[in-house]
Amino acid sequence: MKAPILAPSVLAANYSRLAEGIAEIAPSGAEWTHLDVMDGNFVPPISFGAKMVADLRPLSSTVFDVHLMVQNPEAQIQTFAQAGADNISFHYEAAVHVHRIIMAIKDLGKKAGLSIVPSSPVEAIVELLPLLDLVLIMTVNPGYGGQTLIPRCLDKVRRLAEIREKEGYSYLISVDGGVNRDTAPLVREAGADVLIAGEAFFGSPDKKAAAAHLKGLAV
Ligand code: DX5
Ligand code: ZN
Repeated sequence: MKAPILAPSVLAANYSRLAEGIAEIAPSGAEWTHLDVMDGNFVPPISFGAKMVADLRPLSSTVFDVHLMVQNPEAQIQTFAQAGADNISFHYEAAVHVHRIIMAIKDLGKKAGLSIVPSSPVEAIVELLPLLDLVLIMTVNPGYGGQTLIPRCLDKVRRLAEIREKEGYSYLISVDGGVNRDTAPLVREAGADVLIAGEAFFGSPDKKAAAAHLKGLAV
């Protein structure tokens, strides 16, 4: 089994020392930085906006993986592309013209990702799979870090891996919510290519060890 990409979520970092948090990501062996944008509407909390992404951008050479948990994501695509996002994922549940938004992200030269919450089935996004660079499976209800992974959501990861194989699609499958040392083996076995981790990364004193455990490389 290939080691997955690790994407620490800065939602779990201390916002007053974000530069220090960002600086810990690449040396740990993690490849991506996950940036959770919450609007207080699609989900109750408000996290941060595009200025934060733009201010952090020069501090890191990792892939910036922006996860928009916002209503009307279409209005935000250009702003986050300009702020330095490499990947822009938005929620199927937050938009009607999902196809158009995916095309808009790709037209801006960014990788397009689509996310579904635990209550949405893979079948809802089947028509869009050939267009996607990334499918982000939420394994908790979005809005908060430190929640418990819902194991049933991993069936969706297996299903997405099967469809990709059968149809010859190329999206990466990422898993977000409750990924920690105990659940990471299940997530990897289900076929996830990208593991997103907030508390399990920033809550660990030894970031290298945390990354190795999550990626399945610890001895
Ligand atoms: C939750 C966010 C996650 C969150 C994960 O709504 O989308 O990215 O940061 O946090 P943990 O890994 O602590 O569950
Ligand atoms: Zn996220």
